[in-house]
Formats: sequence, C-alpha cells, structure tokens
Amino acid sequence: MTDKKAYLSIDGETIDLPILTGTLGPDVIDVQGLTAKGFFTFDPGFVSTASCESEITFIDGEKGILLHRGYPIDQLAMKSDYLEVSYLLLYGELPSQEDKALFETKIKNHTMLHEQLNDFFTGFRRDAHPMAIMCGVVGALSAFYHDSLDISNAEHREISAIRLIAKMPTIAAMSYRYSTGLPFMYPDNTLDYSSNFLHMMYSTPCEQKEISPTLARAMDRIFILHADHEQNASTSTVRLAGSTGANPFACIASGIAALWGPSHGGANEAVLDMLAEIGDVKHIDKFIARAKDKNDPFRLMGFGHRVYKNFDPRAKVMKQTADEVLAELGLEDDPLLKIAKRLEQIALEDDYFVQKKLYPNVDFYSGIILKALNIPTNMFTVIFATGRTVGWLAHWHEMISSPYRIGRPRQLYTGAAQRDYVETDKR
Ligand code: SDX
Repeated sequence: MTDKKAYLSIDGETIDLPILTGTLGPDVIDVQGLTAKGFFTFDPGFVSTASCESEITFIDGEKGILLHRGYPIDQLAMKSDYLEVSYLLLYGELPSQEDKALFETKIKNHTMLHEQLNDFFTGFRRDAHPMAIMCGVVGALSAFYHDSLDISNAEHREISAIRLIAKMPTIAAMSYRYSTGLPFMYPDNTLDYSSNFLHMMYSTPCEQKEISPTLARAMDRIFILHADHEQNASTSTVRLAGSTGANPFACIASGIAALWGPSHGGANEAVLDMLAEIGDVKHIDKFIARAKDKNDPFRLMGFGHRVYKNFDPRAKVMKQTADEVLAELGLEDDPLLKIAKRLEQIALEDDYFVQKKLYPNVDFYSGIILKALNIPTNMFTVIFATGRTVGWLAHWHEMISSPYRIGRPRQLYTGAAQRDYVETDKR
C-alpha cells in the first residue's frame, strides 16, 4: 500500500481518499470514508468497483493476461492438470509431488455421494434441465454434513472444499444419466479426475467405456480453463452469500444459480444453440446484422467480455484444443465448427465488433469441444460449474479465513418521497 491520495472536492470541501496499490493492475481509490461524509458511490453493474482484495487470480483485459497465483493460464492448461490447478488455487502454491499425490487421494476418497442423495434425483422430471438438478442437489449436500459446517473451523472449511471438488463430477454425471434412464455409475477411483467423469457419463454396468486419453485430456483442459476468473458474477455471488456466514454448500449452490444465465456461464450452451440456428455459413450475415441492431435483443453468444477488450487467453487454448479433439475424432469438417470459424473471422473484421472490442470468449469454442465429446448441449453449463467450483471455493475460503463483513451495497433511491396512507374509499 502507498500513501498516495485522491482529492474529491464537493461544495468547496475537499475529501481525501487513500489510493491503494496492488501487485499488478490498476490502483484503487478507497471510498469507504465517503459514507461518513454523506455520500455513496454509484456504479451499476460494478464496472468500476473493486469489491475485495484477492491474491488468487489476476486478469489484464487489454493485454489478454490471465494468471492463477501468478502462473499464466496457457502454461497451466498445457502443462498442469485440473487437480493440480485446484491445489494451486486453494493453497496458493504448486504442490510437491508428495502433496499432489496426497491431495489426489483425498479427492478420490470423497467422490461418492451419500446413497440417500440418489433419491433427490428421482423427484425431478426426467426432462429437468441438469442445471436445475445440480443446483438442488448441491444445496441439499449441507443436510448430510452437520458435523462439519462450522465455517470458523479451518478443518471444516477444508473438508467441505474437498467434498465439493470431489463430488461435482459425480453429481454432474448423475444429472445427465437421470435424463437418459440409464443407471447411475459409481466413480472408478482407479481413473484420474476427468477420465472418471467421462466414465460416469458413458460407462454402463454392462460395459466399462474405454476412455480416450486425448478426450480425457481435453475434458481436463476444459475444467482448467473454467476453474477461476477473479470477481465474475457467480464468484461475486458466492462471496456475497459467504459473507452472511452461509454454509459452503449453500454458497456454491448460489454460484451455480448465478452461472446459469446466458450472459455468463449459460453462454456455452447458447453458442451451440446459436450455431445450430444459423445452420449454414450463408446465413451468418443475417445474424451479424441482428447482433448489431439495437432494437434486436439478439447478441452474438460467445463474443464480448466485461474485462477482456482484447482476446480471451482461454479462447486461444480452447480453439487449439478444439482442433486437436476434432482431428482425433476425424471431425475436422464438423459443420458447426465451420460456421464458428467463419463467424469468428467475419466478426473480427466487422467494424461494429472491432470498435466495441467484441472478441471470442471462453465459451465460444468450449461448446464445439463438448459437442465433439458427445456431451449434450444442456450439460455445457453443468461442466462449466464443475470446473468453476474450485474457484468459487478458493474465493470463499480467502474471504472467510480473514476478517470480513457482510456484503451490503446501498442505492440511489429515486422512488416516491414519504407520503401518508390513503383509505381505500378515498383512492
Ligand atoms: C463469461 O466476468 C467473467 O469473467 C465471465 C467469464 C468467467 O470466466 O466467469 O469470463 C465467463 O461469462 C463469458 C461471457 C459469456 N457471455 C456471452 O458470450 C454472452 C454474449 N456477451 C454479452 O452478453 C456481453 O458481451 C457480456 C455480458 C459478456 C459483457 O457485457 P458488458 O460488459 O456489460 O458489455 P455490454 O453489454 O455493456 O456491451 C457493450 C456494448 C453494447 O453496445 P452499446 O450499448 O455500447 O451500443 O457491446 C455490445 C452491447 O450491445 N455487445 C454485443 C455483444 N456483447 C456486447 N453486441 C453483440 N453481440 C455481443 N455478444
């Protein structure tokens, strides 16, 4: 921190506001003193607001930089694996070989669900959206761990994080299997994290699905690329829920709910729906025109970002992975991929998108890979939530393990001034 100050002059009075400097990124103006002076700040959508101090992830939107505990996302995606990145996000350092093996064992020991949780699924219609199921089941998990919900206890916080990271792939796969009428598959702990997920998605009690290492690697890379992203909408939701002292399962369920929206994690499902609606490269111009039309709510899904005003570094890795997976599967001529690549090329040349700096984001290519992995479109956000769970937990733990206050934004009130009640017969 420095002793730099900003000076706000209001009606002849000057208010000194401290300027705080972090390791990387813009300085922040500490406005906490404004309330005592009778003012709030006003920043709908929190475009210019730093809600907290954090050491977990750094994003530079202009330079397309994404660091997890200082490590660039492209290096982690190409050299690490999801559980190692999870350890890094949670504990702040890359694990030793011994610590990594211990962490993997801890996760493996918690991949199963309490058998009674199976009954939760049967309460849903078979055609329930898997995000609705995941949201309900994760929130319900707190009912099974009354012995470890004291958030002031570091051991309770850690075992809750382990349980959630371990069980999300199991819940995700069960949310899919329930819609097919196929029996749930138990985890196979001889498999790595992502292979185990694909096993629970596609094996049956009659035959063990042979999991391609390339496809499992692609799945693991998708989990890595979705693991964390600073103070995005769902992470901010988890922090706000956590600031009330709510248990970690309830907080993660709130993050899943926030992620579901098509402007956020629901975009990957919306990208595939959009590509299918475009249907053919020759229709692209019509959709580009709609995306530019102020009177048309249609937006080009998978493009644009609140922070990235240049390329999204995750999209670059995702595009490379899409090419690898489709080559492995002999799907280079996938029609949706052709539309996606042509759409990207046109959008990046079109003045509207160039001026508004609307580049492909993480969701643009992830759907292509997931479709190639035979993941149903309505499972895409479930997979995003599975990967993002460790990011949510890292931010929740970072907040809870140091002094914090309940989050409680204020407002600019523009409603009616005080007035007296009017009896019904006088209205
Ligand atoms: C994720 O925050 C995160 O980190 C999120 C995320 C994560 O990892 O957690 O990165 C994951 O959510 C990625 C984003 C996925 N969403 C989409 O792909 C949906 C399509 N994108 C848009 O809805 C939009 O770009 C947002 C929501 C992503 C960003 O919205 P902003 O920052 O509030 O920007 P905006 O809506 O104010 O748009 C600025 C301008 C507007 O035009 P004007 O009013 O200035 O004339 O750009 C236009 C918008 O109309 N615009 C688009 C557009 N995105 C923005 N126009 C057409 N197509 C688009 N996709």
